[in-house]
Amino acid sequence: MATVVASAPGKVHLIGEHSVVYGEPAIIAAISLRCTVSATRSESMRIWGRELHQTLEATPREWATSLEQACAIHRSCMQSKNFRPLFDLMKKKPMNLPLVASALVLEKLSVRTGANIKIRSDIPIGSGLGSSAALAVSMAKALSTAYCYELSSDEINRIAFEIEQFNHGTPSGGDNSTCCLGGLIWFEKRPPVNIIRQVEGAIPGNLSNFLLVQTRKREKKTGQLLQIVRDLPEDFRVVRVKILGRVTGEMFGALGRKDAATIKRLMNEAQQVLAELRVSTVEIDQLTEAIRRIGGGAKLSGAGGGGFVICFHEDRKRLEETIRGMGYSPCEVQLGVKGVRLEASA
Ligand code: MEV
Repeated sequence: MATVVASAPGKVHLIGEHSVVYGEPAIIAAISLRCTVSATRSESMRIWGRELHQTLEATPREWATSLEQACAIHRSCMQSKNFRPLFDLMKKKPMNLPLVASALVLEKLSVRTGANIKIRSDIPIGSGLGSSAALAVSMAKALSTAYCYELSSDEINRIAFEIEQFNHGTPSGGDNSTCCLGGLIWFEKRPPVNIIRQVEGAIPGNLSNFLLVQTRKREKKTGQLLQIVRDLPEDFRVVRVKILGRVTGEMFGALGRKDAATIKRLMNEAQQVLAELRVSTVEIDQLTEAIRRIGGGAKLSGAGGGGFVICFHEDRKRLEETIRGMGYSPCEVQLGVKGVRLEASA
């Protein structure tokens, strides 16, 4: 039986996280860390991945029952706008993302048999770099191809978004769109049809003076961080969401003009607002403050609560020295890489 291998990149938010969930734009780049899924058709289901610490095995029927349960809870959470029951369910073994993701893809394809699946990922989990979105996208691509479906990028992206909803409750769809399409994405959540533009052509240069820095792994999942923002008093939240939307619009122009001073100012403004939305940490505040002091720009990237910080300075050497001086190592990743792709099919 043929084994299909597909991979998808992680992503980094240049700007616009959290506010994008409320309809404001975000600018997001695909990064050169990837999640790779191999899938071989089989009668039963078997999933192996380093992070799973065990091989998950079940009959397709058991898989389908887990998915039905997750769908029912997700529906009732959507009504109550409280996603805690869903996150509690997803923490219970063996209910986890790879399982729900594979079950959902097969259900969409009306496939009643299973697959042998292997997952490998270079994307740190729960760090703001889109590990779950990259998994959702590469799973949809590998499994659909193994079952001889030639799904378009839009179809892969739609399935990946449904998978993301189990993990995050009310994601914007920006993460999976970036992991699916790759490059640099301008994203606006406008259901039923989101605005998704590939904008690397509008941004000259290779985004080379951005550096990523990993702070402590976060304790909360993306969905829980979204819930923190959702639970803030509405007036307080709405004002800040609007500021982030305005700052993202200005950032697009500044990137196009290569206007370093404005890029840095906007990153710092976004960090300030994200901290007010309670998704920064002491560690992130200290690191971003140190970069601000040398005249740079820095902000958390992704859901926050720990994880990666994105930093910018025209003087890359000085930026690197400051990051090292704070006890961190800058992470070498390329921004704007290709989206989902088939690696092999044998
Ligand atoms: C998470 O990577 C980015 C958030 O804006 C959530 C989302 O867009 O779904 C925090």
